[in-house]
This record gives sequence, structure tokens and C-alpha cells, in this order.
Amino acid sequence: MATFRDGLSDLTRTGSEAPFAPGSGPEVYIETYGCQMNVYDSQVIEGLLKRGGFRLGDNDLGADIILLNTCSVRDLAEHKVISRVGDLRHRRLKADLPQPVIGICGCMAERLGKKLRKGPRRVDLVVGVDSYDTLPDILHELTSARGVVVPETLRTRTGFSNDALYVAPPALYPTNNSHLVTIHKGCDYKCTYCIVPYTRGPQSEKDPDSILAEIRGIVAGGGREITLLGQNVTAYRWTDDLDFAGLLERVVEVEGLERIRFLTGHPRDMHPHLMDTIGRLEKICPWLHLPVQSGSDRILRRMKRLYTSGEYLDMVEYARRAIPDVTFSADIIVGFPGETESDFQDTLEVVRRVKYDQLFSFKYSERPGVPAARLADDIPVEEKKRRLAELMKVQEDTWAGEAAGQVGEIWTVVAEGKARRPAGSWRLRTPNNRKVVLHDASLEIGQQVKVRITGSTNTTFVGELLA
Ligand code: 5AD
Ligand code: SF4
Repeated sequence: MATFRDGLSDLTRTGSEAPFAPGSGPEVYIETYGCQMNVYDSQVIEGLLKRGGFRLGDNDLGADIILLNTCSVRDLAEHKVISRVGDLRHRRLKADLPQPVIGICGCMAERLGKKLRKGPRRVDLVVGVDSYDTLPDILHELTSARGVVVPETLRTRTGFSNDALYVAPPALYPTNNSHLVTIHKGCDYKCTYCIVPYTRGPQSEKDPDSILAEIRGIVAGGGREITLLGQNVTAYRWTDDLDFAGLLERVVEVEGLERIRFLTGHPRDMHPHLMDTIGRLEKICPWLHLPVQSGSDRILRRMKRLYTSGEYLDMVEYARRAIPDVTFSADIIVGFPGETESDFQDTLEVVRRVKYDQLFSFKYSERPGVPAARLADDIPVEEKKRRLAELMKVQEDTWAGEAAGQVGEIWTVVAEGKARRPAGSWRLRTPNNRKVVLHDASLEIGQQVKVRITGSTNTTFVGELLA
């Protein structure tokens, strides 16, 4: 495994001077919740703090500062974080250790702002998605000026700015062996259930030259695979002449880069030209994560998804023709306001037809202030649970049939690391995002091998190495 650069790339807009000499500052521990955007942002925060002289720790009890990088997409995600704050405080009390500085970053910081500074589980600071460059200074104030009152205005930093597009140093152990590269922030779609346009602000693009420089930096450090990230990567548009397909054309030119994935696309932006481009460019992995959310046209209209289930299925058919070996995954919400049994059955039908490799399914959770919050959240929680369970069962059955049909196939796979169980086994991944486990293999991370598929459990395949 190659080693990666440790420092922050020169591409990131910087704040002021480093408050501490390298490695001499307080220890920071970061916990990340939510989506890959947050995983990337935590890397950004780590980079900024490291450059500020802070030390990075790997556990809550040893840290002087704990940052929770949070998600607001569902009520439950937010509750988890609030109770985690209580838990972190309690652990210190029990261990008879001084209280850490606790900060909330990410989507909850943007959504709840100053409210997080009140009540029994209040935190010491709140920093939203476009204000991470303020972290070194405020954390310096909060840790070294103990006893001095830090003004309230410095403790809550939220609000959007178009040029706050941060660059993370490449990760040492990237997710799935894939280095994340955020290409834009925010979201201009207004799906009626979704909090993201309010927590991440309007869409704003990273410029293509910065994206390419970031990727070249990753490759120079030994990285071979990247995942282009954004709330709606397929809506990327730098100029009228450079859309997402155009960006892909430029990214594949980076020498030494072997695989390019992207997350998340919007079905409405998957136009034929983009699918043809993905199919034509070998380095682009043939895996489309395209959240369908519902299979009912009535519900899709209420969600403002801007496509019908028929259009979605046509797009899937086109993709199958245009992109060799393409696989699909998706997100689905059950129990959206007014969803009838018949609407739900339409969703199941789409799942059966598309045959997704993987589904991420959620019970509808009302988010305050979003357009759907004006509709009555009228599906009882027990019914939402029932629909979720039925959806998962249909997915499992559909997938089991698909998976069984793959036995005997020969796939090219890339080694990602040792598997936890059984001893001596390895985790690998196909370009189209299928997970494969090999028993008793001796491989290196990043090594590409050919395997014959012998079986599967859930979404993981078992294979044997071909000589
Ligand atoms: N309730 C439930 N699920 C939601 N998602 C987004 N907003 C909500 C909500 N209010 C799901 C969508 C999205 C995924 C990231 O989270 O399926 O694609
Ligand atoms: Fe959660 Fe959405 Fe924020 Fe990601 S962007 S952390 S999914 S609310």
C-alpha cells in the first residue's frame, strides 16, 4: 500500500497563522455521522487542525477536544448525536477526568445553530459546513484561554459562502480504497422531504482545475481510485461547455488514475449523453447509485423528484445498453405523507424490475421547515415499519435470484484489505461495486486479480482465485 501525503494540500483556502507549533497543540478526536460528504469534510477538518498544530487522537477519553460531524437527514440521526453528547460528558465524569471541549460540526450545526448551545446537553461550539477554516482559531481560544469568557458570536459559526470549497489531504486509509473528492457543495433541487438544501446551501461548484489538481495529488501519493462526491454530482456545471460528462472526460486523462466512481446522481440528470460517456470511458466504474425514492408517480410528484417511474425505468434500460456490466443501487423512502398501499406496491414493482445490487431504505422522517412538513405525516410508525420490512424482503428475494445467477462467472476484482473473518481472507471489489471475499489468499492492497464466483451471502460474493 502506498503511503499518502500527510499535510494539507496547498489548494485549500487557509485561515490565519497556525496557533500552535506542529504537533504541540491539544488532542482532537472527531466522530463522523451521515454521508460520504461528511467523511470528506472530517478529512478537511483534520487537515486544517493538523496544520494548526493540533494533534489527532483516536478515542474520546484521551482527547482535549471532541468534534461531532453530524447529519440532519432524519430525526433519529440528530437524536443519536444529542444523546452522544450526554454520553461523552458522562464518561468523563465517571472516569474522573476533566470535561473536553465538545463541538458540533456539519448539518446539525447549520440546522440548529445557537439552539445547540442551550440546555443540559449543550456543546461548547457550533461550526457549520462553510466555516471549518475558523476551527483552528476558535479551538485555540477555547482551550488555551480557559477562564476567559469566549464571546457567544465566536462559538456559533454558520451560514453559507460560495467560495468555501475545501480540499482534504488524501486519506491514509481511504473508504473502500477510494479517495473521496468533493466536486461541489449544496443542492439546488428542492425535493420536498429533504433538509439538505437548508443545511448545505445552494449548489456551488469547485473549479475543474482545482478538482484535477486534487486528483493529481492523490495519484502522486499512490492513490489509484477516486470517488467524485456531491449531493447531485450529475448536476455539475462549471460553464455551458463543461458539465459532469465533460468533467469525467477531463478526469480520465489523469495519468496513473485507474478507477473513477461517483456519488450521488439524480435520475433526472442521467441523460443519454452522460450514460454514453460513462459507457465509453473505461476508467469510469459501471455502477450507478440513483435514488428512486418511490415508484409511485403520485408520490414522486409530491416529492418533486421531477421524473416518473416510467422515465426512471427507461433510463435504467438505456444505461444497461450503454454501460457494459452496469449495476444499480438506490435510496427509497417509505411512508411519505399520503403514501397508500397501492403507491407502496408501485415502489416494490420498481425494485423487482430494476434488480438493485443494494438498497438503502428509510422510514419517512418529517424535517421541520421543509415543504413536505406542511403535509400531515399520516402514515403510522408501525405501518412505516411494516412497509420497510416488506421492501427489504422483496429486495432480498430479488437479489438472491440475481446473485445465484452469478455463480461460475469470472470477474476482475481489486483487493481492498484483509477481511475480519475468517482469518486469512481478503475483501475485494469489482469495478461495478460488488464485494467479493477470497479465503486463504495472499494479496496486496490495490492488487487486481481474476476470480471465479462460487457463492454469496447477502450482498457479498465468495470467489476463488484464478491462477
Ligand atoms: N426522511 C427519510 N429519509 C430521507 N432521506 C432524505 N430525507 C429524508 C427524510 N426526510 C433519505 C433519501 C436520501 C437519503 C440520503 O436519505 O432516501 O436519498
Ligand atoms: Fe446527512 Fe444530508 Fe448532511 Fe449528508 S448532506 S450529513 S446525508 S443531512
